[in-house]
Amino acid sequence: MLKLIAKAKEHHVLSKEELISLLKTDEYNNAIFKAADEVRKKYVGNEVHLRGLIEFTNICKRNCMYCGLRRDNKNLKRYRLSEEEIVDFAAKAVNYGYRTIVLQGGEDDYYTTQKMTSIVSKIKSLGAALTLSLGEKNFEEYKAFKEAGADRYLIRIETTDKGLYEKMDPGMSHEERKRCLSDLRNLGYEVGSGILVGLPGQTVESYAEDILFFKEIDADMIGIGPFIPNDDTPLKGAKAGDFNMALKVMALTRLLLPDINIPATTAMESLNKNGRILALQSGANVVMPNVTEGEYRKLYALYPGKICTGDTPVHCRGCITSKILNIGRTVSSQKGFRGNRDFPKFND
Ligand code: 5AD
Ligand code: SF4
Ligand code: FES
Repeated sequence: MLKLIAKAKEHHVLSKEELISLLKTDEYNNAIFKAADEVRKKYVGNEVHLRGLIEFTNICKRNCMYCGLRRDNKNLKRYRLSEEEIVDFAAKAVNYGYRTIVLQGGEDDYYTTQKMTSIVSKIKSLGAALTLSLGEKNFEEYKAFKEAGADRYLIRIETTDKGLYEKMDPGMSHEERKRCLSDLRNLGYEVGSGILVGLPGQTVESYAEDILFFKEIDADMIGIGPFIPNDDTPLKGAKAGDFNMALKVMALTRLLLPDINIPATTAMESLNKNGRILALQSGANVVMPNVTEGEYRKLYALYPGKICTGDTPVHCRGCITSKILNIGRTVSSQKGFRGNRDFPKFND
């Protein structure tokens, strides 16, 4: 096993069987975390990139079994931010020092392509990089956002197990999800994806395939978070994902994709009070603090126990900065494109 870890650390290659053997036992977890931390340091350095996250709508036409924003959840007060509010939160975030803004929301058709492109160009004029996370759109829509100035797009594959995906996301197709990833890549976006760890029925074989899939699509960013059961969903009462398994899948992803951006996800910290720091010490190099203001934070209720719901953007900025400095890392003043560039690969 130690030989496998050394091989992954040096050559960034492991077979499916090798990944499975490392995923199956917890005996070598610390060695995996340490190797991932070293690879992170060698390829992306000690800088942590902060992305200011605006959760702009909790209205969603989808019905994912795990998610509190699913359309059948009637126990949630819904909201939409106006263009003015979104641009105002983005401008404040740029003033706090964020060099990337992430706009994330449910699949909400209220935000037409025209509305979105207007928001995108206004945010871009603030001088920050812009990441979108709006779910499945067609090629023309992705193209319009790109032309308006969007730099990156996040859309998790959630799981590469097609059967499980289609059970968890009723009415959605795994092929369509992959089509989105390929369209985004062809349009020149930096592409972010990722998975949930610990969905009912998910296996270590499946995590091994997930990691190989990230490599196959040459993802620029991979976000991995444990599944956290939400009482307002059909998965209420299901077992939560295992924090260490999520951390290990993330660390193995770093070993195999050494130069990508990997966030220490909010869900990690929602399961373990030191979760983001442990993630930053096991391969992660990005944090996405919330810059949404007021009660909206609480209403963006993907899962229970979500951190920072009662805090302000200023407080979170200070909180995460001190945590990062405390472990001997620095906060980057760059936009943090893959490969530590200050510009996206395709717009060189
Ligand atoms: N637990 C953890 N993560 C969740 N997400 C949605 N619901 C949950 C949950 N119950 C994640 C999905 C989605 C991202 C925005 O939030 O992976 O892609
Ligand atoms: Fe909607 Fe995304 Fe939640 Fe699915 S995971 S219900 S697409 S917000
Ligand atoms: Fe929000 Fe620490 S990052 S309270």
